[in-house]
Amino acid sequence: MASNALSGPARARLRVWDLPLRLFHWLLVAAIALALVSAEEESALNDWHILSGWVAGLLVAFRLVWGFVGGEHSRFMTFVKPSALAGHLRELLHGRPEPTMGHNALGALSVLLLLAMVATTVWTGVILAEDVHELLGWSLLALVVIHILAVVVMSLLTRENLVRAMVDGTKPADRHPSAGDARAPGPIAYLAAGLAIAAGAWAVTRFDPRAFTLRSAESYEHQSERGAATEGAEDHDNED
Ligand code: HEM
Ligand code: HEM
Repeated sequence: MASNALSGPARARLRVWDLPLRLFHWLLVAAIALALVSAEEESALNDWHILSGWVAGLLVAFRLVWGFVGGEHSRFMTFVKPSALAGHLRELLHGRPEPTMGHNALGALSVLLLLAMVATTVWTGVILAEDVHELLGWSLLALVVIHILAVVVMSLLTRENLVRAMVDGTKPADRHPSAGDARAPGPIAYLAAGLAIAAGAWAVTRFDPRAFTLRSAESYEHQSERGAATEGAEDHDNED
Protein backbone atom coordinates (compact mmCIF):
# COMPACT_ATOMS: atom_id res chain seq x y z
CA MET A 1 0.00 0.00 0.00
CA ALA A 2 1.15 3.58 -0.57
CA SER A 3 1.73 4.27 3.11
CA ASN A 4 4.39 6.82 2.18
CA ALA A 5 1.62 8.99 0.74
CA LEU A 6 0.02 9.31 4.15
CA SER A 7 2.91 9.47 6.59
CA GLY A 8 5.06 12.40 7.65
CA PRO A 9 4.06 15.98 8.47
CA ALA A 10 4.24 17.18 4.86
CA ARG A 11 2.74 14.60 2.53
CA ALA A 12 5.53 13.71 0.16
CA ARG A 13 3.44 12.13 -2.57
CA LEU A 14 -0.03 12.66 -3.99
CA ARG A 15 -2.33 9.92 -5.23
CA VAL A 16 -2.93 10.12 -9.00
CA TRP A 17 -3.82 6.78 -10.62
CA ASP A 18 -6.34 4.51 -8.87
CA LEU A 19 -5.52 0.82 -8.42
CA PRO A 20 -7.97 -0.56 -11.04
CA LEU A 21 -6.48 1.79 -13.67
CA ARG A 22 -2.95 0.60 -12.88
CA LEU A 23 -4.02 -3.05 -12.91
CA PHE A 24 -5.76 -2.39 -16.23
CA HIS A 25 -2.59 -0.88 -17.69
CA TRP A 26 -0.19 -3.64 -16.72
CA LEU A 27 -2.62 -6.45 -17.57
CA LEU A 28 -3.16 -4.81 -20.96
CA VAL A 29 0.61 -4.67 -21.48
CA ALA A 30 0.82 -8.40 -20.67
CA ALA A 31 -2.16 -9.31 -22.89
CA ILE A 32 -0.96 -7.30 -25.90
CA ALA A 33 2.62 -8.51 -25.55
CA LEU A 34 1.38 -12.11 -25.44
CA ALA A 35 -1.00 -11.55 -28.38
CA LEU A 36 1.89 -10.15 -30.43
CA VAL A 37 4.48 -12.83 -29.65
CA SER A 38 1.89 -15.57 -30.22
CA ALA A 39 0.43 -14.09 -33.42
CA GLU A 40 2.33 -16.09 -36.05
CA GLU A 41 0.99 -19.60 -36.61
CA GLU A 42 4.54 -20.96 -36.32
CA SER A 43 4.93 -19.42 -32.85
CA ALA A 44 5.34 -21.97 -30.03
CA LEU A 45 2.90 -19.77 -28.09
CA ASN A 46 0.22 -19.68 -30.82
CA ASP A 47 -2.27 -21.45 -28.50
CA TRP A 48 -2.29 -18.30 -26.38
CA HIS A 49 -3.21 -15.86 -29.18
CA ILE A 50 -7.00 -16.06 -29.08
CA LEU A 51 -7.12 -16.15 -25.27
CA SER A 52 -4.83 -13.12 -24.85
CA GLY A 53 -6.74 -11.26 -27.58
CA TRP A 54 -10.10 -11.79 -25.85
CA VAL A 55 -8.58 -10.68 -22.53
CA ALA A 56 -7.32 -7.48 -24.21
CA GLY A 57 -10.87 -6.90 -25.50
CA LEU A 58 -12.36 -7.33 -22.03
CA LEU A 59 -9.80 -4.94 -20.59
CA VAL A 60 -10.81 -2.26 -23.10
CA ALA A 61 -14.47 -2.80 -22.17
CA PHE A 62 -13.52 -2.27 -18.52
CA ARG A 63 -11.58 0.89 -19.42
CA LEU A 64 -14.53 2.41 -21.29
CA VAL A 65 -16.75 2.00 -18.22
CA TRP A 66 -13.97 3.16 -15.88
CA GLY A 67 -13.60 6.29 -18.00
CA PHE A 68 -17.06 7.35 -16.75
CA VAL A 69 -17.14 6.02 -13.18
CA GLY A 70 -13.47 5.64 -12.14
CA GLY A 71 -11.23 7.83 -10.00
CA GLU A 72 -10.59 11.48 -10.90
CA HIS A 73 -7.74 11.09 -13.42
CA SER A 74 -9.23 7.93 -14.95
CA ARG A 75 -12.26 9.84 -16.20
CA PHE A 76 -12.46 10.93 -19.82
CA MET A 77 -14.15 14.15 -18.68
CA THR A 78 -11.05 14.98 -16.63
CA PHE A 79 -8.39 14.42 -19.25
CA VAL A 80 -9.94 14.76 -22.71
CA LYS A 81 -9.47 18.50 -23.16
CA PRO A 82 -8.89 19.44 -26.80
CA SER A 83 -8.75 23.10 -25.77
CA ALA A 84 -5.57 22.43 -23.77
CA LEU A 85 -3.79 20.98 -26.80
CA ALA A 86 -2.44 24.19 -28.34
CA GLY A 87 -0.93 25.36 -25.07
CA HIS A 88 0.66 22.00 -24.42
CA LEU A 89 2.15 21.83 -27.93
CA ARG A 90 3.61 25.30 -27.45
CA GLU A 91 5.26 24.18 -24.19
CA LEU A 92 6.61 21.10 -25.96
CA LEU A 93 8.08 23.20 -28.79
CA HIS A 94 9.97 25.22 -26.20
CA GLY A 95 11.12 21.94 -24.62
CA ARG A 96 9.53 22.89 -21.30
CA PRO A 97 6.24 21.01 -20.87
CA GLU A 98 4.62 21.56 -17.47
CA PRO A 99 4.20 18.38 -15.39
CA THR A 100 0.52 17.44 -15.06
CA MET A 101 -1.16 15.33 -12.39
CA GLY A 102 -3.09 13.19 -14.90
CA HIS A 103 -2.53 12.70 -18.64
CA ASN A 104 -1.29 15.75 -20.54
CA ALA A 105 -3.31 16.98 -23.54
CA LEU A 106 -1.33 15.00 -26.11
CA GLY A 107 -1.18 11.94 -23.86
CA ALA A 108 -4.98 12.05 -23.67
CA LEU A 109 -5.20 11.69 -27.44
CA SER A 110 -2.77 8.79 -27.42
CA VAL A 111 -4.83 7.05 -24.72
CA LEU A 112 -7.90 7.22 -26.97
CA LEU A 113 -5.89 6.12 -30.00
CA LEU A 114 -4.34 3.15 -28.15
CA LEU A 115 -7.75 2.03 -26.88
CA ALA A 116 -9.33 2.39 -30.33
CA MET A 117 -6.47 0.47 -31.96
CA VAL A 118 -6.71 -2.38 -29.46
CA ALA A 119 -10.51 -2.53 -29.89
CA THR A 120 -10.37 -2.63 -33.70
CA THR A 121 -7.53 -5.15 -33.68
CA VAL A 122 -9.54 -7.45 -31.42
CA TRP A 123 -12.68 -6.95 -33.48
CA THR A 124 -11.01 -7.73 -36.83
CA GLY A 125 -9.40 -10.81 -35.20
CA VAL A 126 -12.78 -12.01 -33.94
CA ILE A 127 -14.46 -11.68 -37.34
CA LEU A 128 -11.40 -13.12 -39.14
CA ALA A 129 -10.77 -10.10 -41.35
CA GLU A 130 -7.27 -11.51 -41.67
CA ASP A 131 -5.40 -8.92 -43.76
CA VAL A 132 -6.81 -5.94 -41.88
CA HIS A 133 -6.24 -7.75 -38.58
CA GLU A 134 -2.61 -8.44 -39.38
CA LEU A 135 -2.03 -4.84 -40.50
CA LEU A 136 -3.70 -3.44 -37.37
CA GLY A 137 -1.83 -5.86 -35.10
CA TRP A 138 1.59 -4.76 -36.37
CA SER A 139 0.53 -1.08 -36.45
CA LEU A 140 -0.46 -1.43 -32.80
CA LEU A 141 3.07 -2.64 -32.09
CA ALA A 142 4.45 0.50 -33.78
CA LEU A 143 2.09 2.69 -31.74
CA VAL A 144 3.19 0.96 -28.53
CA VAL A 145 6.84 1.67 -29.37
CA ILE A 146 5.97 5.36 -29.87
CA HIS A 147 3.98 5.30 -26.61
CA ILE A 148 6.95 3.97 -24.64
CA LEU A 149 9.32 6.50 -26.26
CA ALA A 150 6.88 9.30 -25.42
CA VAL A 151 6.72 8.16 -21.78
CA VAL A 152 10.52 8.19 -21.56
CA VAL A 153 10.88 11.59 -23.28
CA MET A 154 8.14 13.19 -21.18
CA SER A 155 9.65 11.75 -17.99
CA LEU A 156 12.95 13.43 -18.90
CA LEU A 157 11.42 16.75 -19.99
CA THR A 158 9.16 17.11 -16.95
CA ARG A 159 11.71 15.48 -14.60
CA GLU A 160 8.96 13.22 -13.31
CA ASN A 161 9.07 9.40 -13.18
CA LEU A 162 5.86 8.60 -15.08
CA VAL A 163 6.46 4.84 -14.99
CA ARG A 164 6.76 4.86 -11.21
CA ALA A 165 3.46 6.79 -11.08
CA MET A 166 1.79 4.07 -13.17
CA VAL A 167 3.21 1.46 -10.77
CA ASP A 168 2.58 2.93 -7.31
CA GLY A 169 -0.09 5.45 -8.32
CA THR A 170 1.63 8.54 -6.85
CA LYS A 171 3.49 11.69 -7.93
CA PRO A 172 5.70 13.98 -5.80
CA ALA A 173 3.64 16.70 -4.12
CA ASP A 174 6.33 19.39 -4.45
CA ARG A 175 6.08 19.28 -8.24
CA HIS A 176 2.29 19.78 -8.09
CA PRO A 177 1.89 22.50 -5.46
CA SER A 178 -1.70 23.36 -6.33
CA ALA A 179 -2.93 19.75 -6.54
CA GLY A 180 -4.35 17.42 -3.92
CA ASP A 181 -4.95 13.67 -3.81
CA ALA A 182 -7.09 12.51 -6.71
CA ARG A 183 -10.73 11.78 -5.92
CA ALA A 184 -10.90 8.00 -5.38
CA PRO A 185 -13.44 5.77 -7.12
CA GLY A 186 -16.54 5.02 -5.01
CA PRO A 187 -18.22 1.65 -4.33
CA ILE A 188 -20.67 2.16 -7.22
CA ALA A 189 -17.70 2.44 -9.59
CA TYR A 190 -16.37 -0.94 -8.47
CA LEU A 191 -19.84 -2.43 -8.83
CA ALA A 192 -20.31 -1.02 -12.34
CA ALA A 193 -16.84 -2.15 -13.44
CA GLY A 194 -17.34 -5.63 -11.99
CA LEU A 195 -20.69 -5.93 -13.77
CA ALA A 196 -19.19 -4.72 -17.04
CA ILE A 197 -16.41 -7.33 -16.88
CA ALA A 198 -18.84 -10.12 -15.93
CA ALA A 199 -21.30 -9.16 -18.68
CA GLY A 200 -18.45 -8.85 -21.18
CA ALA A 201 -17.02 -12.25 -20.29
CA TRP A 202 -20.49 -13.80 -20.52
CA ALA A 203 -21.12 -12.26 -23.97
CA VAL A 204 -17.70 -13.40 -25.18
CA THR A 205 -18.27 -17.02 -24.12
CA ARG A 206 -21.73 -16.99 -25.73
CA PHE A 207 -20.04 -16.01 -28.97
CA ASP A 208 -16.96 -18.22 -28.57
CA PRO A 209 -17.44 -20.90 -25.88
CA ARG A 210 -13.72 -21.72 -25.90
CA ALA A 211 -12.62 -18.07 -25.70
CA PHE A 212 -10.75 -18.53 -22.44
CA THR A 213 -9.12 -21.85 -23.22
CA LEU A 214 -5.82 -22.59 -24.96
CA ARG A 215 -6.09 -23.53 -28.59
CA SER A 216 -4.46 -22.65 -31.89
CA ALA A 217 -5.58 -19.69 -33.98
CA GLU A 218 -6.29 -22.26 -36.68
CA SER A 219 -8.78 -24.06 -34.47
CA TYR A 220 -10.62 -20.75 -33.94
CA GLU A 221 -10.82 -20.29 -37.71
CA HIS A 222 -12.25 -23.81 -38.15
CA GLN A 223 -14.69 -23.36 -35.33
CA SER A 224 -15.97 -20.18 -36.98
CA GLU A 225 -16.25 -21.91 -40.34
CA ARG A 226 -18.34 -24.67 -38.80
CA GLY A 227 -20.56 -21.98 -37.29
CA ALA A 228 -20.03 -23.24 -33.75
CA ALA A 229 -19.15 -19.77 -32.60
CA THR A 230 -21.71 -17.83 -34.53
CA GLU A 231 -24.45 -17.47 -31.92
CA GLY A 232 -25.06 -13.75 -31.73
CA ALA A 233 -22.87 -13.10 -34.75
CA GLU A 234 -25.37 -11.77 -37.24
CA ASP A 235 -22.98 -10.29 -39.73
CA HIS A 236 -20.21 -12.67 -40.59
CA ASP A 237 -18.85 -11.34 -43.82
CA ASN A 238 -17.02 -14.56 -44.62
CA GLU A 239 -18.17 -15.54 -48.08
CA ASP A 240 -17.18 -19.20 -48.05
C1 HEM B 1 1.48 -3.28 -25.04
C2 HEM B 1 2.02 -2.23 -24.48
C3 HEM B 1 1.27 -1.05 -23.90
C4 HEM B 1 -0.01 -0.62 -24.10
C5 HEM B 1 -1.09 -1.22 -25.00
C6 HEM B 1 -0.17 0.57 -23.28
C7 HEM B 1 -1.34 1.32 -23.18
C8 HEM B 1 -1.52 2.41 -22.37
C9 HEM B 1 -2.74 3.12 -22.18
C10 HEM B 1 -4.08 2.75 -22.86
C11 HEM B 1 -2.51 4.13 -21.32
C12 HEM B 1 -3.52 5.11 -20.79
C13 HEM B 1 -3.90 4.74 -19.40
C14 HEM B 1 -5.35 5.06 -19.18
O1 HEM B 1 -6.17 4.23 -19.58
O2 HEM B 1 -5.69 6.15 -18.70
C15 HEM B 1 -1.13 4.09 -20.96
C16 HEM B 1 -0.51 4.98 -20.09
C17 HEM B 1 0.80 4.83 -19.67
N1 HEM B 1 1.67 3.84 -20.02
FE1 HEM B 1 1.36 2.37 -21.31
N2 HEM B 1 0.99 0.83 -22.60
C18 HEM B 1 1.90 -0.14 -22.97
C19 HEM B 1 3.18 -0.29 -22.51
C20 HEM B 1 3.78 0.52 -21.60
C21 HEM B 1 5.11 0.32 -21.06
C22 HEM B 1 6.05 -0.82 -21.43
C23 HEM B 1 5.33 1.33 -20.18
C24 HEM B 1 6.56 1.60 -19.35
C25 HEM B 1 7.71 1.87 -19.87
C26 HEM B 1 4.15 2.16 -20.16
C27 HEM B 1 3.99 3.28 -19.39
C28 HEM B 1 2.86 4.04 -19.34
C29 HEM B 1 2.72 5.23 -18.51
C30 HEM B 1 3.81 5.83 -17.62
C31 HEM B 1 1.44 5.73 -18.73
C32 HEM B 1 0.85 7.01 -18.13
C33 HEM B 1 1.24 8.14 -19.03
C34 HEM B 1 0.84 9.47 -18.43
O3 HEM B 1 1.40 9.81 -17.37
O4 HEM B 1 -0.02 10.16 -18.99
N3 HEM B 1 3.23 1.64 -21.04
N4 HEM B 1 -0.54 3.02 -21.61
C1 HEM C 1 -5.01 -6.99 -29.28
C2 HEM C 1 -5.13 -8.24 -29.59
C3 HEM C 1 -4.55 -8.87 -30.82
C4 HEM C 1 -3.39 -8.61 -31.50
C5 HEM C 1 -2.34 -7.56 -31.16
C6 HEM C 1 -3.34 -9.49 -32.64
C7 HEM C 1 -2.34 -9.54 -33.59
C8 HEM C 1 -2.27 -10.42 -34.64
C9 HEM C 1 -1.29 -10.40 -35.70
C10 HEM C 1 -0.17 -9.40 -35.82
C11 HEM C 1 -1.55 -11.46 -36.52
C12 HEM C 1 -0.81 -11.80 -37.81
C13 HEM C 1 0.22 -12.87 -37.59
C14 HEM C 1 1.07 -13.05 -38.85
O1 HEM C 1 1.86 -12.15 -39.16
O2 HEM C 1 0.88 -14.08 -39.49
C15 HEM C 1 -2.71 -12.14 -35.99
C16 HEM C 1 -3.26 -13.29 -36.53
C17 HEM C 1 -4.44 -13.87 -36.12
N1 HEM C 1 -5.26 -13.39 -35.10
FE1 HEM C 1 -4.85 -11.86 -33.86
N2 HEM C 1 -4.45 -10.29 -32.60
C18 HEM C 1 -5.22 -9.92 -31.52
C19 HEM C 1 -6.43 -10.46 -31.13
C20 HEM C 1 -7.08 -11.50 -31.79
C21 HEM C 1 -8.38 -12.02 -31.42
C22 HEM C 1 -9.27 -11.51 -30.28
C23 HEM C 1 -8.65 -13.04 -32.28
C24 HEM C 1 -9.87 -13.94 -32.37
C25 HEM C 1 -10.75 -14.11 -31.41
C26 HEM C 1 -7.53 -13.17 -33.19
C27 HEM C 1 -7.42 -14.11 -34.18
C28 HEM C 1 -6.37 -14.24 -35.04
C29 HEM C 1 -6.25 -15.27 -36.02
C30 HEM C 1 -7.27 -16.39 -36.29
C31 HEM C 1 -5.03 -15.06 -36.69
C32 HEM C 1 -4.44 -15.92 -37.79
C33 HEM C 1 -4.97 -15.53 -39.10
C34 HEM C 1 -4.29 -14.31 -39.61
O3 HEM C 1 -3.11 -14.39 -40.01
O4 HEM C 1 -4.94 -13.24 -39.62
N3 HEM C 1 -6.59 -12.20 -32.86
N4 HEM C 1 -3.14 -11.49 -34.87
